[in-house]
Amino acid sequence: MCGIVGYIGQQKATPILLEGLKRLEYRGYDSAGIALLEDEGLKHEKSAGKVHMLERLLANRTFTSHIGIAHTRWATHGEPTDLNAHPQLDDTGNIAVVHNGIIENYRALREVLEREGHNLVSDTDTEVIAYLINMYYNGDLTEAVRMALSQVEGTYAIAVIDSRSPDKIVAARNGAPLLLGQGQGENFVASDVAAILRHTNKVAYIEDKEIVTLTADNYHISTIENVEISRKVEEINWSLEMIEKAGHDHFMHKEIHEQPETLRNATRGRLNIEEGTVRLNGLTDHLEDLSRIKRVIITACGTSWHAALIGEYLLEEYAQIPVEVEYASEFRYRSPIIDENTLVLVISQSGETADTLAAMREARRKGAKALGIVNVVGSTIARESDGGVYIHAGPEIGVASTKAFTSQIMVLSLITILLGRMRNISANMGKEMIEALESIPEKIQQILDNEIQIKEIAETYYKSNNFLYLGRGVNFPVALEGALKLKEISYIHAEGYPAAEMKHGPIALIDEKMPAVVIATKDSIYDKVMSNIAQVRARNGRVIAIATEGDAEIANHVNHVIFIPQIKQCFSPLLSVIPLQLLAYHMAVLRKCNIDQPRNLAKSVTVE
Ligand code: G6P
Repeated sequence: MCGIVGYIGQQKATPILLEGLKRLEYRGYDSAGIALLEDEGLKHEKSAGKVHMLERLLANRTFTSHIGIAHTRWATHGEPTDLNAHPQLDDTGNIAVVHNGIIENYRALREVLEREGHNLVSDTDTEVIAYLINMYYNGDLTEAVRMALSQVEGTYAIAVIDSRSPDKIVAARNGAPLLLGQGQGENFVASDVAAILRHTNKVAYIEDKEIVTLTADNYHISTIENVEISRKVEEINWSLEMIEKAGHDHFMHKEIHEQPETLRNATRGRLNIEEGTVRLNGLTDHLEDLSRIKRVIITACGTSWHAALIGEYLLEEYAQIPVEVEYASEFRYRSPIIDENTLVLVISQSGETADTLAAMREARRKGAKALGIVNVVGSTIARESDGGVYIHAGPEIGVASTKAFTSQIMVLSLITILLGRMRNISANMGKEMIEALESIPEKIQQILDNEIQIKEIAETYYKSNNFLYLGRGVNFPVALEGALKLKEISYIHAEGYPAAEMKHGPIALIDEKMPAVVIATKDSIYDKVMSNIAQVRARNGRVIAIATEGDAEIANHVNHVIFIPQIKQCFSPLLSVIPLQLLAYHMAVLRKCNIDQPRNLAKSVTVE
């Protein structure tokens, strides 16, 4: 979703800002723009479409500025046109604003401004901010931003420049991510660290209702109420290499192939094989609470919600704790029953998803302890939760989540062992589970080594318009995730269903043009899944089965089989999802889709 980058220092701003925008592309956007303070005043350029279109426009202009702000916009108010792209300017042309978030009272503010004779030209909610800042400008840009924001209701991360204050950038945050990057004789502001990582790994996170003023040599943070804040700069241990493609055609492909390594990282230093348990540093302060909880609510969105469903199976089976899984967007507007014995687990790759963040805040307001399962270190959910466990998957750039999903399941498995060992599972069982988890990376590698077969299946089916994904038990959420991956990146309609539910509806759709991907691993419900496969085949449906190595019989009942190694049943999602990720990837490549930035989607959904 919208991305912001700003630069002030000794270097030319344009190339730094353009590179920053390219690094932010993965967040999802549909227009881009830049504003610079040149000797002759504020200059800007913006364009609907991708950053390279903006780059083309800029090629015809010579900018020498050392200070500027830039933006990728994911349209909420107004179509993705040149006019609605950011920066938005006020009518004096002095002020440029870039914004991520939604100004909820913009209509009322706009009416007031229009009554005063201003002629606002865009359809955006952002434009009013530029006008308000100008209205309050009295020689001090930070003060003008502060006054303007006191009128604004809603969520924002903004960055502002003003040709009358050519030595500073002012930025502020309320509900959308923002950080400052500290260089030598230069400073940056950005939505996320990827935008500035080439130049610095020293960052300070801006909190809600805070304003930061950047000059080339310094920065100053205060609250909207003008209380001084001292914030220490932290070093991020992400390398530039981690946010590049490293020889793969797409980030998604790279991230699928990173999974053996990312899963090792998720368990590193956390397994205690002798005692058949795990050590999770982020939870050590909460062990007493965890031993007495009677109920768990897991809340998340998208792929993280699918991981939550798998967590439900794991926790109920091994820790014997009742679990409810809630879409964060629903949870936040319900009146959930929460008491001091309820634990709320919040799962988010980015740690910034607006609905998930709001759900977590709601749970905490109601007195629950909220623990996060998060990837991005220092993200808002990571900082605001009572504790939690990082999944350590490294930067995930492809919009369609892959490695974060498996790492979330891995961390949920570790939490299951921890809670299970506090309750009813034996040290031996804990040990058996840990050994199974340790074998996962190698088994994933075996599946990845079979990519060519999956690609061939993709070649057979990529022209299909519909797909059905079926699974049962702990593999039902994997069916949902497989269908989501396919629709996200290939735009093929796909539905995930519990295999047995198929006969209550989707069966009506089955014919020779409707392939079904069925997870049919050798487990306690294998025979039932085979009956479901027979129901599909009896209606001329074509079946691609994900089956367990050594199941020689299954090939007689389906059109294609992709084998995965044997694994303890409860952990099979960690393997069964891998072929589904590759299948979606190869079908999308064959359909010539934009793999890493699918249309309309955003990596980090920071608005409601
Ligand atoms: C967006 C992304 C999905 C992601 C979901 C939740 O929709 O495109 O890939 O699963 O947000 O994101 P989170 O960062 O909270 O896991």
